[in-house]
Amino acid sequence: MDNVTKNIGYIVGGGLKENLRVRLTIPSQQVQEGAFVVIESDPWQFYGLVTDLQLGSTDPRFADEQSESRLPLEMAHLLHGQTLYTTLEVLPALMLDRGPDPSSPDYALWREQHPEDPHPLPVKTIPPHHAPVRLAEAGDIAEIFGSSEQKGNFIIGYTREQGLPVCVNLDTFVQRSAGVFGATGTGKSFLTRILLAGLIHHNAASVLVFDMHNEYGFDDTSSDTHTPVTGLKTKFGTHVRVVALGAGSLIRGLAPDFTLEIDEDDIMPADVEMLSRELNLKETTPTTLDALVSEFGSAGWFKAFREMKVGSVIESEEGKKIPAPDSVAAWANSAGVNIMAAEGLRGKMQRLYNLEYVRENPAGNGIEEIIKALEAGQHVILSFYQHETDLDYLLVSNLLTSCIREKWEKRTNDFRSKGEAEPHPLVIVVEEAHKLLNREMAGQTAFSTIAREMRKYYVTLLIVDQRPSQIYDEVMSQLGTRISGWLGDEDDIHSVLSGLAGRDALRGMLARLQPKEEVLLLGWGVPMPLPVRSRRYDSTFWDELLGRKKDRMTTEQALKDLGF
Ligand SMILES: Nc1ncnc2c1ncn2[C@@H]1O[C@H](COP(=O)(O)OP(=O)(O)O)[C@@H](O)[C@H]1O
Ligand SMILES: [Mg+2]
Repeated sequence: MDNVTKNIGYIVGGGLKENLRVRLTIPSQQVQEGAFVVIESDPWQFYGLVTDLQLGSTDPRFADEQSESRLPLEMAHLLHGQTLYTTLEVLPALMLDRGPDPSSPDYALWREQHPEDPHPLPVKTIPPHHAPVRLAEAGDIAEIFGSSEQKGNFIIGYTREQGLPVCVNLDTFVQRSAGVFGATGTGKSFLTRILLAGLIHHNAASVLVFDMHNEYGFDDTSSDTHTPVTGLKTKFGTHVRVVALGAGSLIRGLAPDFTLEIDEDDIMPADVEMLSRELNLKETTPTTLDALVSEFGSAGWFKAFREMKVGSVIESEEGKKIPAPDSVAAWANSAGVNIMAAEGLRGKMQRLYNLEYVRENPAGNGIEEIIKALEAGQHVILSFYQHETDLDYLLVSNLLTSCIREKWEKRTNDFRSKGEAEPHPLVIVVEEAHKLLNREMAGQTAFSTIAREMRKYYVTLLIVDQRPSQIYDEVMSQLGTRISGWLGDEDDIHSVLSGLAGRDALRGMLARLQPKEEVLLLGWGVPMPLPVRSRRYDSTFWDELLGRKKDRMTTEQALKDLGF
């Protein structure tokens, strides 16, 4: 194709603040919102995104009148060509200095002054009037998003018009926390499987998945199409450890690699305070917990409080009913804390005491085993199995994450100061992240600290959520790569776009994505925003990722077939 036929239009106006306007020279229906376009204007090459299409006319009369019914068809077409047109609105995103034409005499000098290949820069100027505009080709996309041939670049989806592959760089991806958003059913879990498969295969990081709905480890069945969905354990075998919460659990009839039980001594007052909303705790809680810890120690308070009874009384020598020595009231009296407050807390904590996986002296140390696996570069999928209430999710994920945070901080410090081995990067995947990262919880859980500062300690989050507006904005603003499917709620759209340039244009694009399997790539983790058709999670995906099994005969077989 020569340049003339490739062009779809030329610049007719606009600016940096109000986007560029392009007169379209091909039929309007051949271009869609979100199309990736290139504007060439030496020495710059501009890259932009179509954010709107508008029909225009040189005179409103020509637009109003159905001239094709009044004039001969050919004449009507001629008239339309002269008077009716389409304007594109293009959000300019990046520009690249290409220097003079390589065949021109100036090129050698320019190259001498620019020994490194130029990188795309944020747009700081605009192309002139009439600069030609064309749709991006595979090479342009590779220039901006990286080539799929290069190690670490992973195809996440395809452009909507031409189906050209678009990559994310996995090494960059794990350097900051990231998010996958979209209303229920838009494909978040499927896309997360794809990303995890990429991370595990490329070994960019260890991953720990808090798998609230038992979706990621073993094979599953799709809830809408009822077709089988391959689990990560199935493909990655021993590299992936499936851990079930609670002893004796089978997940979809399969035995996990090991189970996680929590030693009651490991539960600290902060772990209970973090559950304030869930357990509906009062402001008096910290005082009571402090008194318990100072009397029984941080490893003994939980058990001691468990053994106290609410309301048990004995008769005194004078025949009066007084609190029994094993009662909460007797302890409260002796410790000088409010009896009602202590009894109230004990009552509310009964839900914790009922958890069958919180045990006195459990058989193994599941938390330690998980951490060891992650340190060894394995991947852990923690299935909540049948314990999928919010209480289970909040308590267990926070306990484990706090331990991890401590461990990775220590290992990083040892690496920096004592020259010990560099920690392996870790990505923690949290579904329904707003339960852990809402405004109220954010100050109390280890998750918000990770989102804010654990990057320097090699730990980042991958948060998966259908209600991003309920996630604390400080956490949202930390997310490098944001991948969002369709969102209907204004507040959710607003939070996904928070802190990004060109929000107005992107808002409409997000609201008009297909209801499934289409996402907008956003955030500073990607070079520029771009809507893509999600990569499909199916057997082709696995063949492409792991390499198709070769049907080639072994030498032995070949020789045998030949009669040797
Ligand atoms: N990338 C994909 N490849 C194949 N099927 C997909 C993909 N994304 C979504 N789907 C289909 O859409 C359904 C909903 O996707 P899912 O990831 O479960 O949504 P969410 O987690 O956002 O609620 C899936 O059951 C599947 O049939
Ligand atoms: Mg899901």
